[in-house]
Amino acid sequence: MTRRTSLVAVLTVAVGYSLFAGRTTAPAAGVASAPARVAPRERMSLNDDWRFRKDDPPGNSVCLLYDLRPEVKDARDDRPADREPGAAEKARASTLAVLKPWILPTGNALIKDPARRFVRPAGNPGSDVAYVRADFDDRSWRRVNLPHDWAIEGPFLVEGDFGGMGRLPSWGIGWYRRKLHIPATDAGKSIFLEIDGAMSYATVWLNGRLVGGWPYGYSSWQLDLTPHLVFGGENQLAIRLDNPPSSSRWYPGGGIYRNVWLTKTQPVHVGQWGTRVSTRQVSPSSATVDLEVTIANDSKADAAVRVATRVFALDAEGRQTGEAVASFAPMDAAVAAGGNATVRDSVVIADPRLWGPPPQQQPDRYVAVTTLTREGRTTDVYETSFGIRALRFDPDRGLFVNGEHVFLKGVNNHHDLGALGAAFSLRAAERQLEMLREMGCNAIRTSHNPPAPELLELTDRMGFLVMDEAFDVWYRGKTPLDFHLIFPDWHEQDLRALVRRDRNHPSVILWSVGNEVGEQYTGEDGAAVAKRLCDIVRDEDPTRPTTSAMNWAKPDMPMPAVLDVVSLNYQGEGIRDTPEYAGTTRIRTPPQYAAFRERFPGKPILSSETASAFSSRGVYLFPVSKEISAPVRDGRGGDPEIRQVSAYELHAVDFGSSADKVFGSLARHPFVAGEFVWTGWDHLGEPTPYYGSRSSYAGIIDLAGFRKDRFYLYQAHWRPELPMAHILPHWTWPERVGQVTPVHVFTSGDVGELFLNGRSLGRKTREPYEYRLRWDDVVYEPGVLEVVTYNHGRRWATDTVKTAERPAGLEMRPDRTTIRADGADLSFVTVRVVDANGLVVPRANTSIRFTIEGQGEIVATDNGDPTSFEPFQAHERKAFNGLCLVIVRGTAGRPGRIRLTVSSEGLRRGTTVITSEARAPGGSPSRAGVDTAGNRGPRQAPESSR
Ligand code: GAL
Repeated sequence: MTRRTSLVAVLTVAVGYSLFAGRTTAPAAGVASAPARVAPRERMSLNDDWRFRKDDPPGNSVCLLYDLRPEVKDARDDRPADREPGAAEKARASTLAVLKPWILPTGNALIKDPARRFVRPAGNPGSDVAYVRADFDDRSWRRVNLPHDWAIEGPFLVEGDFGGMGRLPSWGIGWYRRKLHIPATDAGKSIFLEIDGAMSYATVWLNGRLVGGWPYGYSSWQLDLTPHLVFGGENQLAIRLDNPPSSSRWYPGGGIYRNVWLTKTQPVHVGQWGTRVSTRQVSPSSATVDLEVTIANDSKADAAVRVATRVFALDAEGRQTGEAVASFAPMDAAVAAGGNATVRDSVVIADPRLWGPPPQQQPDRYVAVTTLTREGRTTDVYETSFGIRALRFDPDRGLFVNGEHVFLKGVNNHHDLGALGAAFSLRAAERQLEMLREMGCNAIRTSHNPPAPELLELTDRMGFLVMDEAFDVWYRGKTPLDFHLIFPDWHEQDLRALVRRDRNHPSVILWSVGNEVGEQYTGEDGAAVAKRLCDIVRDEDPTRPTTSAMNWAKPDMPMPAVLDVVSLNYQGEGIRDTPEYAGTTRIRTPPQYAAFRERFPGKPILSSETASAFSSRGVYLFPVSKEISAPVRDGRGGDPEIRQVSAYELHAVDFGSSADKVFGSLARHPFVAGEFVWTGWDHLGEPTPYYGSRSSYAGIIDLAGFRKDRFYLYQAHWRPELPMAHILPHWTWPERVGQVTPVHVFTSGDVGELFLNGRSLGRKTREPYEYRLRWDDVVYEPGVLEVVTYNHGRRWATDTVKTAERPAGLEMRPDRTTIRADGADLSFVTVRVVDANGLVVPRANTSIRFTIEGQGEIVATDNGDPTSFEPFQAHERKAFNGLCLVIVRGTAGRPGRIRLTVSSEGLRRGTTVITSEARAPGGSPSRAGVDTAGNRGPRQAPESSR
């Protein structure tokens, strides 16, 4: 669901917020913008001008814990991801007063049964803590703008059991304070604080009064500030976060890491996430749109309101266009004082432009503009963007969108954005999706938690399909202090918040209530929990199926029976299904697709996690496995000394399979709807198989955004119409002269001929269920390696790699040379270490210095090396296998040129200029090729265009 400042508000007070080019950006709350007349609804960014510090006030003796936590008896974090989750530990009894009773009522609006809602106790805990007081002097605190991740600056914790959470100090206590000026003219309005993600256990005080909070760090939530505000004066917000250690299997980040908003409405207004739009009877000639609007009345008097909604088409950038394409007949509602009322209606739209995933379809969208009037005066205007599309999961053939079969070519992604940490950045998320799109990916699973709402704006606009996931754990935990501690009290509120917030997004196709939960192991009891969660989802959204990802539950176990869609993690290909695992106590199973289909012929089946294949970009280890899929072992795909995994792309986690093996298994089971690869991008934390590292090895793209070879393996398979070929490894091996150095080629063609220094090394043909061409006995000599590929007998695509000489210079390639000067937009600049001929030197780990002049700053640097402990803020870092990344942001409100220079001892320096513009750059941004592998001629172009 999308909420935007109403058109009326934009016109009358010139405020609005924008996710994309073309809309006005949000003013900070408290910035004077004298309204000509009262706007019915305003939504303002509250991201700027916070003061931040870690830890409670020195000597604080008041208990500010949300709840008692069990003792962490075992903080080891490197155990297999697929171990059985354990039963919850009880916290030791204590007489300490905790804040939970004051926090729980915040979620009341999301608890369906009034009898289960919470009553706030008397009292005001924490009021005598210095940091909550309005008169506390916080001028010495650090100034920060949100989204903010307090942990990403490090330092990395090189020693100890911290690999799972990314070796960055994300746990601990942090305080955020901000002043809020609320003009006297706001008196009588309802004013809400909206937080899209605070990690975690947020507690909010306003003017010294504890207002509420929210424990789960991934949820969006709101607080009604109205009763505690001073109108016509300064107000003081104080937010305390308390992120537990040993609380995550990956890097969670710490802090208020997503956007924060202040929403002002009239007392009678559309409720939080108060619209539901869905479509049915969709055809090219017409579609029925069902609309439900829930109106909240915060006033002390009953209200009669008229609800009118018009539908407009949106353009590709999300701008409303033209005249209304449909109007709902006005509906009248009586809303009791302090209560809610819901109205429903339907309308038919003729000749709708449908929403669907490219390349087959277009992601066209509409917006429903709902206007509430009372006695002829507008009291709210609320926008809901949506798409018209028909979804059908077919048990025999998978997913159909608008009647057309769409195979799920999906990836899992965690929420972190590499060197930017968990702090949400629209451009960084968009860049991730752009690269995935280039690979042929059409679907995302938000593993294993609610995403930033803006991610779904992007997937709507770009046409990705989304499996929107709520939880990694339920009652049984995976780490000692994870979400299982709050699940009993909060699962309904968190789940309803997710579905209510996201249900109007056309990109969301499936709700996942869990991932590999411990309740798979608890028979009927576990299935009952799954059923309860699915029922909550269906109550909020009856239009989409529910699922939960299963790595253990088999067809004869109770869990799958209660799910609409069977989502398998790794089981489809089989888990540890080779003799070397005989006798293990870990999960072992033969391939399960057929067994699930036999037991549940009416249920669609998909693979919510496949592969978990590992590699380090540009690292090739010898000897090379002859198998198409093998676990990582010392000297067999993995090198524990350097903590790197071979990029021949043949190795996977013990319970996983290489991409090649997964492709084969999916091809043999055409009823499976598709796959979500573990993972699209490397993520911070969970660095299996080397927990001494900082970030994962599972990504198809590395942490810095450089493509691993696997990118081309997926592209070859997922975009069969695209003529492409990709050779690996690089061809600069002075120490391997005369040694066997296998050459593999990923291509969408079916035949390839390899040439070394002009000599043919023979033709190879891709047989059915083979996804690479391999020349395993090539003897290395320096020079030029070239592959010419064919498809159905026609020349198709070529690729070339050349032996590089010594490093001679540095080159820079910004992904965009023009950005917006809004303090948020970014340019991602690839730095290449090149030889005298401009070829990337494939193993250059040169130390590089960055300097910047003009209207911008360096936000972070990275090189994609999972073992690098250089801080992401450093302006000097090593290249990793020839490449380095620097992320540049324009100064807010100061357009101009930004000159970035990179230098290194003895190398020709590199310079690039980025223009930071006041307005959105028109058209598509300039994208110089951000090729990562170097040493190549143009690829992916048809032969004829060379
Ligand atoms: C799966 C799990 C993922 C991740 C992956 C790593 O079992 O669902 O979250 O841990 O393994 O290989």
